[in-house]
Amino acid sequence: MNKVKVLDRNFTVSIKEAEILKRVAEIGAQISRDTEGKKPLFLAVLNGSFMFASDLMKTITTPCEISFVKLASYEGTNSSGNVKQLIGLNESLRGRCVVIVEDIIDSGLTMQELLKLLKEYEPSEVRIASLLVKPANLQVNLTVDYTCFEIPNDFIIGYGLDYDGEARNLRDIYTVCD
Ligand code: IMP
Ligand code: MG
Repeated sequence: MNKVKVLDRNFTVSIKEAEILKRVAEIGAQISRDTEGKKPLFLAVLNGSFMFASDLMKTITTPCEISFVKLASYEGTNSSGNVKQLIGLNESLRGRCVVIVEDIIDSGLTMQELLKLLKEYEPSEVRIASLLVKPANLQVNLTVDYTCFEIPNDFIIGYGLDYDGEARNLRDIYTVCD
């Protein structure tokens, strides 16, 4: 299946499942080496990262834990009016090695917000693992410790990523073509 239509747009395959899994295993091996003996806590950011998080965890060879979080916005009272809140976190992060598991870093603003929120929980270190990064779109200064693929500035779907809620179930990653 090299082409799919989702809602009103057509997409063509750009990264096949086998290539994704090979790269995820490489990143998993690297994270395992880097966090050996630290009992890292993986924080998977829902919804988009669920497939990546699942495949990544299977390649981690050091004792670890995983928790699933969500960034929710609510109408706040500050000047910008839009305040983000971290939900779903039940573990204490104090003194822990945290590895954020994200689907995609586009402008980087979501990740910047998440880092700011996590800092208040006083982890000893925070690393970022992102399946995809769109470097041309980055608006903030971020160190992404582990990136599976850098991609051009096009809209993509599949392997957890959605178009208006659909297409998360696709095994491969697809790029919009028209
Ligand atoms: P950022 O704050 O601009 O880095 O946006 C990151 C979020 O935007 C991701 O977690 C995705 O939910 C969404 N996003 C960015 N680019 C894409 C894309 O190409 N396909 C699907 N979702 C995307
Ligand atoms: Mg996301």
